[in-house]
Amino acid sequence: NRNAIAVAKMAEDIGVQALAMHGRTRACLYTGHAEYDTIAAVKQAIHIPLIANGDITTPEKAKFVLDFTGADAVMIGRAAQGRPWIFREIEHYLLTGEHMLPPTVDEIHTVMLEHLHDLYAFYGDLTGMRVARKHISWYTKGLAGSASFRHSMNTLQSIELQLKAIDDFFNELRTKHERLVYVEVDANTPPTDHAEALAA
Ligand SMILES: Cc1cc2nc3c(=O)[nH]c(=O)nc-3n(C[C@H](O)[C@H](O)[C@H](O)COP(=O)(O)O)c2cc1C
Repeated sequence: NRNAIAVAKMAEDIGVQALAMHGRTRACLYTGHAEYDTIAAVKQAIHIPLIANGDITTPEKAKFVLDFTGADAVMIGRAAQGRPWIFREIEHYLLTGEHMLPPTVDEIHTVMLEHLHDLYAFYGDLTGMRVARKHISWYTKGLAGSASFRHSMNTLQSIELQLKAIDDFFNELRTKHERLVYVEVDANTPPTDHAEALAA
């Protein structure tokens, strides 16, 4: 049921200050591709800021969606999982039309460790170690040699072993490259499994 314009106008009328809009219907879940025509139509129909969302995975796609919809901003979900620098990369591209250099191996290592320690503290050791696995997988997806690393990660049963394996992986990577090099073809594909994404 495509009622986005009517719902957006109702929201505006009752005093909503801004809207974020995802280009799928509820029935779509995460299947197919988000469409942006409806977001563009809603933008024309309301005056409050509109934030476009759905399947934005690269700086080019962010620029395309902003241009196509006329939205005031974009919102990124799954593509930021394991790639939190996507926001600065998009900002840089929008401002300059150029791509930033990828993050250094040191940076991803530091950011990931900080994130993992937050997970351990928040969930406790056992659950934290298990929840950390999918984040480690997202951070390293597409990096050279990461498939076997991710596979073995799921067999490790303690925080100490998890952290040791991560240190070994990044120390090895650092001997080859200063910055991240994504080699696997699906590196830009966000996870599509709805339950997996929401469980994050
Ligand atoms: C881990 C995760 C949690 C989410 N939680 C919410 C939520 O609480 N409320 C909501 O409206 N959408 C939620 N979403 C949906 C996102 O806001 C977004 O609409 C969706 O992921 C599509 O954007 P994307 O293609 O950039 O991922 C969540 C998505 C993910 C991946």
